[in-house]
Amino acid sequence: MPGETITIQAGQCGNQVGFSYWQQLAQEHGLSPDGTPSAWPHDTKYEFIDYSRRAPTDGPANQEASGSSSSGNGNGAIRPLSSRRNQTSYRDDNPELFFTISDADRYTPRAILIDLEPSVISKTLHCMPMFNPRNAHVSEQGSGAANNWSNGYRYGQEHIEEMVNLIDREVDKCDNLSHFQLIHSVAGGTGSGVGSRILEVLQDRYTSKKITTTVSVFPSNDKTSDVVVQPYNSILTLKRLIENSDGTFVFHNDALNNIENLLHLNHASAQSDGISGRTSFSGANKLIASVVASISNPIRFPGYMYTSIESIMATMVPTPELKFLTTSIAPFSTLATHHKYVNEYDMFLELSDDRYKSVILNNNNSTETYYLSLMNFLISPKHLDRREIRKGILKIQERTNFPSWASRTIGVVQGKQAPFVTDRVLQGIQLSNNTAIVELFEKILRQFDMLAKRKAYLNTYCEENSVEEVDRVAGVFAECRETVQTVIEEYKACKSINYLEDDDLDVNMN
Ligand code: GTP
Repeated sequence: MPGETITIQAGQCGNQVGFSYWQQLAQEHGLSPDGTPSAWPHDTKYEFIDYSRRAPTDGPANQEASGSSSSGNGNGAIRPLSSRRNQTSYRDDNPELFFTISDADRYTPRAILIDLEPSVISKTLHCMPMFNPRNAHVSEQGSGAANNWSNGYRYGQEHIEEMVNLIDREVDKCDNLSHFQLIHSVAGGTGSGVGSRILEVLQDRYTSKKITTTVSVFPSNDKTSDVVVQPYNSILTLKRLIENSDGTFVFHNDALNNIENLLHLNHASAQSDGISGRTSFSGANKLIASVVASISNPIRFPGYMYTSIESIMATMVPTPELKFLTTSIAPFSTLATHHKYVNEYDMFLELSDDRYKSVILNNNNSTETYYLSLMNFLISPKHLDRREIRKGILKIQERTNFPSWASRTIGVVQGKQAPFVTDRVLQGIQLSNNTAIVELFEKILRQFDMLAKRKAYLNTYCEENSVEEVDRVAGVFAECRETVQTVIEEYKACKSINYLEDDDLDVNMN
C-alpha cells in the first residue's frame, strides 16, 4: 500500500521550487489556493481502477519482457472515499498521500517550510493559504545564511529540536509514512546547510523503511552569476546527499536555462509566478515542479505499476552509491504551447534527446554515457497505443548504452492525466540513472580545487580565527572531496563488465 510523503523545503530556492510544485499538485487535484476542493469532474473520460484486476505487487519483477507496464484500463469499480473525506463524493485519486484533509474538507500540504529569511515563506503563505502556517520555521534574525553552508548547518544544529517537532507532528498525522522529500539548492547557505542537518536527522531518527529523496538544484556555471564559494557549499552538501539520501533528483540550473531557451519558456515565464524573486527562475521552477509532480503521478493517480515511491526507487537505484538521477521533460508538454500532435513513439524519441535533460551532457561524449536504469513516464488523458510504445522501447534500447551487468529494460509508466488539467495532451518525462553525472561532479571538484589550493575564503567557514581552525576546516573539506570522488569512481567503474564482481568478497570466501 502506498504511503504518505512529507515534503521539507528549505531556503529560497527550496521554497520557490516548492511553491511551483504545490501549485502544480493543487491544480492536478482540483484544489483552490486555500485548499478547498472542486467537485470531481465526472464528465471527463477518466478511467476508474479495477482493483480486482490489480497486480498484487508492483516494481520491476512485474514488468513485461519489453519493460512496458499495463495501464488500469478496465471498467473497474469506483473507489469509495476514505472516511476523512466527507464532501467531495467519489474520486479516483490519492491526494491524501500528499495532503491532510480536515473534517471541513480543507486540504493542507504535508509540507514543512524552512528559511532563515522570511520573504519567500511569507509570500507563499499569502498566495497559497492552504499551507499550515504552524509548519513554517523562519529564523528570528531573518537575515539568511549569507550563502555559507556553515552558517546554515550551525543554525540547523542550534534549532534542530524545533524542526524535529515540526517533522514529528507531521509524521503523527500519517497512517503509513513512506517518504521524505527535501527540496533545496546545494549552493546557498540555508537549503544546503540546514538541508544537510535535516538529512542527517531524518537518517538517524526515522531510518526504518522510510525512503528519503531530494530534489537538489545545482548552481549555474555562468561566471557572472551567483557566489564564489558555491563549490565549497556544494561539496559539503554532496557529502550529506551521498551519505543520507536514498535518491537525488539532480537539476542543474544551466541545463534548465537551456531547456527554457529551447522551449521559449522565458517569454512564457516573463510574467513572474509572484514568488520567485528573479522572474528568470519561474520558468525553471515550473520545469522542476512538472517533473517532480510527474514522478508521483502513478502514486497519486494509481494504476497497476509503480504505485509507490519504493517501487520507483528500487528500479532506478541499483546500488546505494549510484543514486543521482537525471530527468528529462518532453518539450510537448503543457509548458510549451505548440506542436501538440505527438504520439507515444515520438515522445520516446523526444525524451531521449540530451537537450531536454536536467543535467547537461557533454555532447562530444554522449556515446560514452552508460545508462544504469531508464524509466519513461507517459501521462495521458486516454488509452495509450501499446504498439507505438513497443516501437519506442525498441528504438531506445537500440540507441542506449547499458553496462553489460545491468538490465536493458526500459521501464514505462502509463500515467493518468489529472481530470482537472485543461490542456489534455500526452505528456512525458524520463528518469534515468546515467554516468554523465560524473561530468557535473568533476566540474564542481575542479572549481573546489581552485579555491581550496589557495585556501581562498576558508576563514568564512571557521568558527574562530586560528591556524589550527583553518587546518581543521581544510581537513573537513578534504574529507568531503574524497567522498564525492568515491562516487565519481563508482560511476566510472560501473561501466565495466566486472563491476559486480566484488574482490573483497572473493578473498573472504576463498
Ligand atoms: P541563503 O540565501 O544563504 O540563506 O541560502 P539559500 O538556501 O536561501 O540560498 P538559495 O536557495 O538562494 O541558493 C542559491 C543557489 O540557488 C544559487 O545557485 C541560485 O542560482 C539558486 N536558486 C535560488 N533561487 C532559485 C530558484 O527559485 N530556482 C532555481 N532553479 N534556482 C534558484
